[in-house]
This record gives sequence, structure tokens and C-alpha cells, in this order.
Amino acid sequence: MSRTIQDELEQIRRRDLYRSTRLISGRQSARIGHGGRELLLLCSNNYLGLAEHPALAEASLRAVERFGTSSGASRLVSGTMELHEELERAVAAFKGSPAALVFNSGHAANTGIIPALVGRGDVVFSDRLNHASIVDGILLSGARLVRYPHNDHQQLARLMEKECGSGRTLIVSDGVFSMDGDLAPLAQLAELKRQHGALLMIDDAHGSGVLGRCGRGSADLLGVSGHVDIKMGTFGKALGSFGAYAGVSDEIRELLVNRCRSFIFSTSLPPAVLGASLAAVKLVQSAEGDALRERLHRNAHLFRSGLIQAGFTIPDGATQIIPLITGQSETTMRFSEALLAEGLFAQGIRPPTVPAGLGRIRFTVMATHDPDDLNRALERIENVGRRLGVL
Ligand SMILES: Cc1ncc(COP(=O)(O)O)c(C=O)c1O
Repeated sequence: MSRTIQDELEQIRRRDLYRSTRLISGRQSARIGHGGRELLLLCSNNYLGLAEHPALAEASLRAVERFGTSSGASRLVSGTMELHEELERAVAAFKGSPAALVFNSGHAANTGIIPALVGRGDVVFSDRLNHASIVDGILLSGARLVRYPHNDHQQLARLMEKECGSGRTLIVSDGVFSMDGDLAPLAQLAELKRQHGALLMIDDAHGSGVLGRCGRGSADLLGVSGHVDIKMGTFGKALGSFGAYAGVSDEIRELLVNRCRSFIFSTSLPPAVLGASLAAVKLVQSAEGDALRERLHRNAHLFRSGLIQAGFTIPDGATQIIPLITGQSETTMRFSEALLAEGLFAQGIRPPTVPAGLGRIRFTVMATHDPDDLNRALERIENVGRRLGVL
């Protein structure tokens, strides 16, 4: 007899890997409601607070008034709306790319773009800690997957010497790693791409809006923007909206429109979302965007150095994603529950999202956090750490 659904759920529970959603009230603000209490939100990707910015809400409402609530179909079926084109022009300018294409989500972008670019007979070099949607995209493509140790460009160079074939070669990496908060060695990846005539794709879901000049992202920060062939990013994190994009050449855009299944076979983003995204792309490049980034970086520094001073194990990094390593899944979930009891909402992250034994509390800070709240949170986190023997 095949295994029952009950058995499978029981097995997930026994391994401390059971997941469920938590109902919260209000917006993705620094403070949220949960079970009749107010909690400090320490795990949202709304890094700049744009998800509650009036300029985005107004742009979204205006877009609905003018263009209605739905795009009606895939863009290849019922037409590209003016807002799709306007957003793509704005994104291309923002990312310094000749062209851009928008996608329904970051997951849809990665699972669509990679199989559109590579297939059987091709090879993809992928950082071991790349986001799951990149791995899914590679598996869907049928290309050979060669995983290299996290951020180890020397090992990548050796693997490329050995494994590059006669087909197309793609190097793909997160720009800022989603569960670790560190940066990819983009200059070295760009050099290897040049040496091997490969394509370079960077998923900057967590760098866009936050790093580089005007928030253009990690490639801009590290001075290699011109060497990245596919600058993928998302609207659902620092940009406070929803969906994703890729800054690319005209040629690659044309290929994606013809080959990318998540673009071809899915109803496109609706006006409300396009309007908010357009407002966000403008806002992050403004003086207000600069001020928000400065507040975010100050808060990130305060929180990261506070955790390190307390003696927690915090991997190297300098971004707003600050993982506190807790180890086993059971400890991770006890830590997360204990934080909740202290009024702090920070999610525990377990396998398969992170490697076994490297469970963590993935803290994220926002520009909208009050430094006094962060200082009070640090005290409580330290107390929990001592009580649970993590410190
Ligand atoms: C690095 C990275 N890429 C892609 C995604 C997927 O983006 P989306 O949430 O828009 O599907 C995420 C997170 O959700 C991510 O962290």
C-alpha cells in the first residue's frame, strides 16, 4: 500500500520540520498584531517600508481606476498593457540594461528564464546556497547542474576548466544570499564568465532597492553591472510591491518572450501591481530612497553588532539579512517560539531551506524600525539565547 497523507504529515512532524502559516493583523509594518498582541516584526523583506508607503498605494489605486483589475490573459494573448511597457522601460533604466521583461514572481522568473536559456547539452554552474527557485529552474531546464561550494570562486574556476562543454554555459548566483545575507563575489564571477564565454545571471531579490547607487543592486555596488547578462530582481521585497523582472539585452528579451514558459503560459501582472511597482522604481531612485537606505543600513549595523557582542554565531555579512545560527531544527523552533512569547516575530528557518544542522533565526531589519525597539529586542534575544543554551 502506498504511504498515506497522514503518515507523511506525521513524518514531517517527527523530524521537527512541520510548517504552518501564522495569522497576523495589519500591514507589514515594524509592529504587527498577532493573537490580540502587538509584536515587533523582525522577519519581513519589506526592507524600506515601501509596502506601506502612500505613493505606492495611490499609484496602485490610480492604475485600477484607469486600467481595471486584471490584465485579462498572457501578454502574448490579449496584449501588453501600457503599464507593462512603462514599467519595463523604467526597470531597464534603473538596472542599466538595454531592455527588461517583467514576470509574475521571482519564482516564476527563475523557473522560466533558466530553461529558456539552457537545456540538454548545456551546463549550469550554481552556488550551493542559491535560492530554491534557481535550483528548480535548472532542474526544469534539463541542463547539467554543477554546484560549487558557497562563494568559492577558486573552486568554480577549477570546475569550469573541467566541466565546460561545447554547449552553452551559464553561471548563476544570488547577489545577496537570501538566508545568509552575504554578497556573491561578482567581480570574480564576471571574470570567469569572460574567460569561458559563459552567460552570467544574478538573482538580486535581496540587493535591489537596497545596495548600490540609487539602490540599483549588488552588481552596481561591486562595479560589475555591465558584465551581468541577466539582472533578475523582485518587486515584492525592498520595492514593496509584487512580481519580478530581468534586465537583459534586446536579444535575450526576444528569446525570453518566445521561450519562457512562465511568461508565455500565465496571465500577466495586473494594473494594481504594475502601478505600485512603477511608483517603487521611481521612489528608490529619489532622495527619499537614499534616506531610507541610510536608515536601513544604520539599523542593520546596530542589530548585527548587538547580536555579535552578545556572543551569538552570526555568519559574516553586512546586509539587512542577519541569520542567528541555532543548529538543530528543534532548537530553532523553540528559539522562534520563545521570541514570540517575548513579543518578537522572527521566523525559524530549517532544512531544506538551509543545510541540515544549520537551522537559524533569519532576522531582517527594516528602515522603519525604531533603534530603541531594536535595542530592547536585542536584550530579549540575549535572554532567550541564555535560557535555551544557545549562548
Ligand atoms: C533569492 C530569491 N530569489 C527568488 C525569490 C522568489 O521571489 P518571489 O517571492 O517574488 O517569488 C526569493 C524569495 O522569495 C529569493 O529570496
